[in-house]
This record gives sequence, C-alpha cells and structure tokens, in this order.
Amino acid sequence: MRVKAAVLRQIGLPPPYAASKPLEIAELDLSSPGRGEVLVGIKAAGLCHSDLSVIDGSRPRPTPMALGHEAAGIVEAVGEGVTDLEAGDHVVLVFVPSCGRCGPCAAGRPALCEPGAKANGAGTLLSGERRLAFHAEPVNHHLGVSAFAEHAVVARESCVKIDPNLPLELAALFGCAVLTGVGAVVNTAKVEPGQSVAVVGLGGVGLSAVLGARLAGARQIVAVDLSDDKLAFAVKLGATDAVNAAAPDAADQIRRISGGGVDVAFDMAGAVAALELAYAATARGGTTVTAGLPRPDSRFSLAPVTMVAEERTLKGSYIGSAIPLRDVPRYVALFRAGRLPVDKLLTHRLKLDDINEGFDRLREGIGVRQVVVFE
Ligand SMILES: NC(=O)c1ccc[n+]([C@@H]2O[C@H](COP(=O)([O-])OP(=O)(O)OC[C@H]3O[C@@H](n4cnc5c(N)ncnc54)[C@H](O)[C@@H]3O)[C@@H](O)[C@H]2O)c1
Ligand SMILES: [Zn+2]
Ligand SMILES: [Zn+2]
Repeated sequence: MRVKAAVLRQIGLPPPYAASKPLEIAELDLSSPGRGEVLVGIKAAGLCHSDLSVIDGSRPRPTPMALGHEAAGIVEAVGEGVTDLEAGDHVVLVFVPSCGRCGPCAAGRPALCEPGAKANGAGTLLSGERRLAFHAEPVNHHLGVSAFAEHAVVARESCVKIDPNLPLELAALFGCAVLTGVGAVVNTAKVEPGQSVAVVGLGGVGLSAVLGARLAGARQIVAVDLSDDKLAFAVKLGATDAVNAAAPDAADQIRRISGGGVDVAFDMAGAVAALELAYAATARGGTTVTAGLPRPDSRFSLAPVTMVAEERTLKGSYIGSAIPLRDVPRYVALFRAGRLPVDKLLTHRLKLDDINEGFDRLREGIGVRQVVVFE
C-alpha cells in the first residue's frame, strides 16, 4: 500500500526546520506484514527529543529513515504466525522489540534485547527486513516503529495490546515518555515512599518522572530545568520545589533544600551538564539515574572516591527498565484511576504536514508532548 510518511533524508540541516524542512512528507510503499509482523493504522504519534536527536545529528542513524517511535494505533492485519492479535485491537508501539530468547530477555530485561538493539541500529524490523521503500529504494525504520506515517508494519514484539477505551492520542505517550520516565522511578531507581528526589530536565520524559515520583510517594520532588516555564509546569504537576539549572549554585540550592542532597536524582535532559548537576545533587548513599541520551562522543567525569566513600550509585535507564507487556497496562490502569495524570503532558496536537514546525517547538522548549494526530 501507499502511505504518507515523514522521511529524514539528510541529517544536520540547520534550524529553523520550518524553513529547512528536514522531514519530507512523502508517499512511500509499505509492504504487507511478513511472518510475525503486524500492519497498524497509526492514530497518534508523539514528538520525542530522541527524534530531534536524529534530525540534528546528535544521535546518527542510517538514512533515509521514516521517523517516529512513540505511537499508538489499531491493528489492521496480521502476518503469518501472529495468533494473539487481530484486526481492531488497539496497540501501543514500543521502541525496542524484544525477542524473548536472548540473554537479557531471558533475564527479564527485555529493554536490553540484543537482537532488538541490533535491528534498531540497522534501521530494520526485528526480522531484519525493511518494509518501507521510496521508488524501490529501501527506507529505514526508526526503532522498529516509524510512526510519523498513516500506517506502519512492525514486529509483533513491538506491540502491546491496550484497553480500547483509552484515547489513542494519550495512548501514544505511554510508548516512550511514560514508559521511560515513570519506569526510571519505579523500575530503575525503585523510589520508596518518603524518599527525596530531583528531576533534571522537564520534557515529556522528565515530567513523567515527576508524576512517577508522586505515584511512588516521594516526600520531596525537586524540579530542575533551564526554563522557568518548565519549572512552573512541574510544580503544577506536583513537584514540591523548583531550581533553575542555570543558577551557578544550582547544586548547592538542591542540597540545601533537601538537607544534604536528594536520595535519588534523575538526569532526563540529554546533556552532560544535567548529568553532572544530578550527580552533584545526590546525597551520600544516594543514587543518580540517567535516562538522557547525549551525543555518543560526550564524556562525563566524576571523582570515583565519592562513589566509594559515600557509597554512591550511578545507574543508566533505557525505556525505564521496562517490561512493556507488564508495565504499559499497569500505567494505563493508574492513569484511569487518576493516579498518573499523563493527559496533562499532551500540550499540542498537529497534522503530519506541520511536523517540521513541531520540531522547532520541541527545540525551543515550547509545550511538552506534541502529538501528530491521524484521521
Ligand atoms: N532512556 C530512554 O529510554 C529515553 C527515552 C526517551 C527519550 N530519552 C532521552 O531523554 C531526554 C529527554 O527527552 P524529552 O523528549 O523529554 O526531551 P525535551 O526536549 O522535551 O526535554 C528536555 C528538557 O531538558 C532541559 N534541559 C536541557 N539541558 C539542560 C540542563 N543542562 N539542565 C537542566 N535542564 C536541561 C530542557 O530545557 C528541556 O525542558 C533526551 O535526551 C531523549 O533523547 C531517553
Ligand atoms: Zn522517545
Ligand atoms: Zn531478546
């Protein structure tokens, strides 16, 4: 079938993107789903900083690539061998397909699936195939999803079936921002009731962590960002304190208001300065969790003696250390119960044709989560 999709041909075009148009809206050929694959009618796809990092070159990927990895839609057809999904099922798409059989999958850590990571790096589906083409030239898939498009063919392992009553424009957020931000709190850090936390970087991912920290019963949630608008937004969502990261004494401010540093500090910004600040704001015996994705050539230095003499822990968190088949339905149920108000993160709805303008807004820090909505 022919599908309208947003395709990145050239990495690193200069902003503003409304003028340079790194994403071209093109008609692509989409093959039918192969064995173990699913055709999904995409209903909503969120704009995440990880898409922007491919566009601006800070996270290089093979081109041409059909972008978009945070999405939800409705199953339209299933390939051979798919017996547990059928047309009409609502699904959230997850940006690491997990094979279920490799070492990390067997150890209960599907976020680290090795064949999944390999396929994502190569721009293919889990099967190793590309189902997208432009005039017979293969087009790469983005993280097995490529959801800035009317339809997508994905691996069965990229889908989590959800409650069909959840509006799909909200469901999309569960695929990346919510899974990553809430999961960093409840799975990676396992924040306990009464602990103090700081969240550095308040985009869709960081604000999901703020909601997760509230859910987990943190006594203090210090919101940290360079933008006063983001700080105000976080306080509305339940952060108890706010510190502007641009202040030269930001780490001291966080240490002062938390009585010597927070139990758990999260870097959700994707900048080394944010990770350094999170580490500096962590208490003796505390944990620093990083989920930001800075450029692969960035380096972070720390004094190892602090890790030893203060028993500090530094942990990475990918897709919130999720088990998506377990966690997506859990987070959806918590949303329904009013305990995870992720609808507040959805600030803009846009059309596929206006996606470059959307990435300008993301670059400028305007709004939180923007979702491309398909009719
Ligand atoms: N670990 C994962 O699985 C995973 C998943 C999704 C996104 N990410 C990464 O998480 C990061 C956040 O994604 P997002 O979509 O929420 O981004 P976003 O652009 O919406 O938000 C980032 C926020 O960080 C703030 N910021 C930037 N530099 C800062 C600094 N030095 N100090 C304090 N705040 C700073 C910005 O003002 C902005 O509000 C990105 O790096 C993204 O690639 C990781
Ligand atoms: Zn993302
Ligand atoms: Zn695996």
